[in-house]
Amino acid sequence: MLNEKKSTLLKLNLGCGRNIKSGWVNVDREEKENKLDIICDLAKEFPFKDNSCQYIYNEHFIEHLDWLSGLRFLKNCHRCLKPGGVLRLVFPDFKKVFKAYLENDADFFKLVGERLNGADYEYYRSVYRQPAKIRRERNDNPPPAWHLSRRHEDRERLERRARKFKYLIEYVDWFTHQFGEHQCLYDEESMAGILKEIGFKQVKISKFKPQIDFSNQGGRRASCYIEAVK
Ligand SMILES: C[S@@+](CC[C@H](N)C(=O)[O-])C[C@H]1O[C@@H](n2cnc3c(N)ncnc32)[C@H](O)[C@@H]1O
Repeated sequence: MLNEKKSTLLKLNLGCGRNIKSGWVNVDREEKENKLDIICDLAKEFPFKDNSCQYIYNEHFIEHLDWLSGLRFLKNCHRCLKPGGVLRLVFPDFKKVFKAYLENDADFFKLVGERLNGADYEYYRSVYRQPAKIRRERNDNPPPAWHLSRRHEDRERLERRARKFKYLIEYVDWFTHQFGEHQCLYDEESMAGILKEIGFKQVKISKFKPQIDFSNQGGRRASCYIEAVK
């Protein structure tokens, strides 16, 4: 449970990764480059009081939970929001991804492809090959521990990323599985239905809002935005 000081901060940024929001309670299960307010596994714990939050935000997180954990997570969001509080969810728009694939729309995957085959590829390749160099270069801003680890599983996690994407189906695979990290697929219709069943009063399809959402242009194009009011 949050201590008194933290419990006065009523906006939660859950599964925040590197995207820390100032003035919010930023939660993730692993610390990356920025300091988190809470480290916890949101599939197992939800350390917030009933009716205590004004706003819950999560971007590209819910698909990382399996179906049952995701449902429990959404129910917990509902439980912890005050009446009138808002849950904003951003997640991959699998309808658009599959449509683009079936229509052979290479342009749809272009921006994501530029990142995966560009900055991401260069970074993971160099970490995979020379972890010590990366450790020295990024002394003040170290990468996550598993990037530098010699454990077989961690080396394989890196090796999966240190590759180039060539075929459209590989992008579909990346959206769907993200190196084994994605565990459940949603679309606007299914998520809106689940949120209504849980008891949210208003559920609205939203769109990218630069004042709150982080997604880069490639991610934005392939994301669903949904807001639900308790
Ligand atoms: C794709 S990243 C999204 C990060 C950020 N919200 C963004 O949009 O860039 C997914 C994040 O969810 C976190 N995550 C995955 N499963 C989690 C869990 N069970 N509990 C807490 N955080 C989790 C990961 O550590 C990762 O930072």
